[in-house]
Amino acid sequence: MATSTPSTPASPRLLVLISGNGSNLQALISATTSTPPTLPAHIIHVISNKKAAFGLTRAANANIPTTYHNLVPYKKQHADIASARQAYDAELVRLILEQKPDMVVCAGWMHIFSEAALQPLVEAGVGIINLHPALPGQFDGADAIERAYKAFQRGEIGGTGIMIHWVICEVDRGEPIVVREVEMVAGEELAELEERIHRVEHVEIVNGTRMALKRLMREREAAGRT
Ligand code: GRF
Repeated sequence: MATSTPSTPASPRLLVLISGNGSNLQALISATTSTPPTLPAHIIHVISNKKAAFGLTRAANANIPTTYHNLVPYKKQHADIASARQAYDAELVRLILEQKPDMVVCAGWMHIFSEAALQPLVEAGVGIINLHPALPGQFDGADAIERAYKAFQRGEIGGTGIMIHWVICEVDRGEPIVVREVEMVAGEELAELEERIHRVEHVEIVNGTRMALKRLMREREAAGRT
């Protein structure tokens, strides 16, 4: 694994949201710290909603500051889940904006962004993208790989894929930035399919982030907001 210094602080600032293993975060860390970087950007901070997420260890190993932000305390403090989520999201937005990122990358982040959480990011000109292990319009939401696998077993689909897309309120429905098809193989175990999909993700999360950053910077330049 490459361990050289990150891109210069003047390079775009990425904040990565994770919930688990963080293998996609690792792909981003490797791409931003290789010589030369294949992703000219700087991961400034990682936020996880799970304490045990291995991605937190990956971030610490790369000297990236982290924050643990979990919904449970908010559920205990609020009478209903809607107000708990509202307060949780407000704090999430505050945590994100205080890091002054150019872009937020959801890399295996298992919470949905509410309108109230997205709006302040949009207003601050912060781009937000998500990795989803399915093709656009198919298997939105959790357990997408397993649902695609079962659909293939039933003969309903011939293949699946992954995408990186801009985040909007509708889950996994934002405009795609990168779409890659992944063929399905008869007789393959679910774990093997997952493994193949993750390998594709690790390449495309880097490509998708690079493309999204380019567009964000172009738009900012056009709007006179550099
Ligand atoms: C990835 O398959 C991603 O598409 C999905 O969750 C998984 C996260 O993997 N939403 P990791 O934490 O990056 O290893």
